[in-house]
Amino acid sequence: METHMETRYEFELLEMIAAPWISQSIYVAVKLGIIDLLTNVTSYKVLAQKVNANPEVLYRVLQGLVSVGIVSEIHLGSFVLTEMGQLLVSGKPGKLSSLALLWGEEFYQAWGNLLETVQTGNTAFDSVYNTNFFEYLRNKPEVARTFNDTMTGLTALLYPKVPNTYDFSSYKRLVDVGGGCGALIGLILKANPSLKGVLFDQSNVVTNANSVLSDYGVLDRCEIVAGDFFEKVPAGGDIYLLSNIIHDWDNDQAVSILKNCRRAIDEQGHLLLVEMVLSNEQEPKLARMTDLNMLVLTGGRERTQEEFTSLLSSSGFTLKRFLPIEQLIYIVEAVPN
Ligand SMILES: C[S@@+](CC[C@H](N)C(=O)[O-])C[C@H]1O[C@@H](n2cnc3c(N)ncnc32)[C@H](O)[C@@H]1O
Repeated sequence: METHMETRYEFELLEMIAAPWISQSIYVAVKLGIIDLLTNVTSYKVLAQKVNANPEVLYRVLQGLVSVGIVSEIHLGSFVLTEMGQLLVSGKPGKLSSLALLWGEEFYQAWGNLLETVQTGNTAFDSVYNTNFFEYLRNKPEVARTFNDTMTGLTALLYPKVPNTYDFSSYKRLVDVGGGCGALIGLILKANPSLKGVLFDQSNVVTNANSVLSDYGVLDRCEIVAGDFFEKVPAGGDIYLLSNIIHDWDNDQAVSILKNCRRAIDEQGHLLLVEMVLSNEQEPKLARMTDLNMLVLTGGRERTQEEFTSLLSSSGFTLKRFLPIEQLIYIVEAVPN
């Protein structure tokens, strides 16, 4: 009995220690275009020829991906995507291909520096790339596109319930602060035909917003404004939305963004944060690991209910409620003091 338990834990531990094996194999299959090709090519030899890879090595990578359920070998040397593998096909909202690319490249390199972060408190990404995460994206349009696609994809995957969870019908003007390319404001405006919107983000990001807002059919109701939320945010909204913004920053930076929202918001206005909210109870391991991911990439953090309450109160807001929308993801509603 004891031997059985030990064996079980050893294998569980081995899988955790060796987790990058899987992540890197997925990355290679996405990066080389193997995943997309598998939608109509099955032979590993043809795949290798098309992407200029070594056939025998590619065969072994494909068999590795079989072992984790991403592809299946339908007969010797011929592969198809499984239902899970289909989620990695590029170019569809909610798909995870762009996240696999980031994880295989920048995120992977930055995580390789976690040890130094723990020793010094420096942000791992900054030490590896000699610049901070958002500055890096400003200088690397290709990577920025992958990051923006990831955020657009995650919105489609995680936030479709937002317009039904929160009642936007009494508001006139929604300002989405750090709204990326507009996936979430697009979703909300589409569901609320009388609402007008302002999409606010950095200039290199909002230049790509037109197509997302057009896809939602809301381009004519959404003003696009470029700027820096550490300087100011657009005034005159009666509802302000910050989705996945506060977790990118430490407490002082978060307070300075929120204070700029406080200056801009109508006295009767409402502020919504869409964020993961940590609890002290048993929670999925992705939650605490996401907190570490913020530490590694931007020096930010995920927060508990108490931490959000205190951050909001330091910024001139009173917390009203936490509305759950997805596992551990909440709309945090606040009003100006
Ligand atoms: C994690 S993404 C979240 C995007 C979007 N709200 C979502 O939930 O998908 C953070 C966003 O903050 C924006 N951002 C970072 N620094 C900024 C700044 N100083 N001023 C305005 N936006 C900024 C980034 O361009 C990016 O779109």
